[in-house]
Amino acid sequence: MIISIVNHKGGTGKTTTVVNLGVAFGALGKKVLLIDLDPQGNLSYSLDIPSDSVGISEVFTGEKNIQESIIQKEGIDIIPSNMFLADIELSLQSAEDRTNVLKKILDPIANEYDYVLIDCPPSRSLLIINALVVSDAAISTVLLDVLSIQGLNHIYRTIAEVKSAFNSKLNFIGIVAVNADIRKKISKEVIDFITDNFDIPIFNTYIRSNVKITEAPSHGESVLGYAPTSNGAKDYLALAKELINVKA
Ligand SMILES: Nc1ncnc2c1ncn2[C@@H]1O[C@H](COP(=O)(O)OP(=O)(O)OP(=O)(O)O)[C@@H](O)[C@H]1O
Ligand SMILES: [Mg+2]
Repeated sequence: MIISIVNHKGGTGKTTTVVNLGVAFGALGKKVLLIDLDPQGNLSYSLDIPSDSVGISEVFTGEKNIQESIIQKEGIDIIPSNMFLADIELSLQSAEDRTNVLKKILDPIANEYDYVLIDCPPSRSLLIINALVVSDAAISTVLLDVLSIQGLNHIYRTIAEVKSAFNSKLNFIGIVAVNADIRKKISKEVIDFITDNFDIPIFNTYIRSNVKITEAPSHGESVLGYAPTSNGAKDYLALAKELINVKA
């Protein structure tokens, strides 16, 4: 299953979720590929992948084939990003069949994996459209505050547009609340608002606010590798188990 992790709002835990959910799937015996599709390269940095590594940019340009861009870490495969991805994003605008470029790249290898997770940038860009065109499913991460609802509105529309124009099999399967303290009144209000106003489920597993999740990237590891007994590791494992039972 190919899943894009999306939200047009920045800093809502997309990259954190791709890294830790990916490693959690791997720990549960699944074959996993992560794709860093954000020119910021946060996913690659979080897993201590050198910034001059071959990445998805060179696959987009045809300089390298996809196998040459794959790096192994913590039992899973990763295709890193690098700063050239911002140029790729610009050149995509004039490319022929510009919404299908990533699909053509991934088609030959996607079946080798149980899960391909794509870390998307927050900006409304052709990179996100390419990710959604090749995906079976989209998941949004939200902080439980009112600004997240705005980002959710925007991404909901983008997903609906891609589904109707390019990819009828695309399914918005759920929303993950991250960095969550559900004892707070505002958290409950935001959950109620989402439940009442969107036809998308919120996953039962919340990712609690956890300092080990914040620290792990500076050690170049997932939270499962850095602090295996932490609440962060437990929550991402629980989310992976919940998702294994969800059909796209
Ligand atoms: N459960 C959590 N507990 C504590 N900190 C968290 C948690 N989830 C995410 N964070 C922190 O929130 C910040 C933003 O997370 P992240 O980089 O994953 O967001 P993003 O949506 O990928 O951002 P961008 O839109 O810029 O790509 C990071 O510093 C991360 O460590
Ligand atoms: Mg990110």
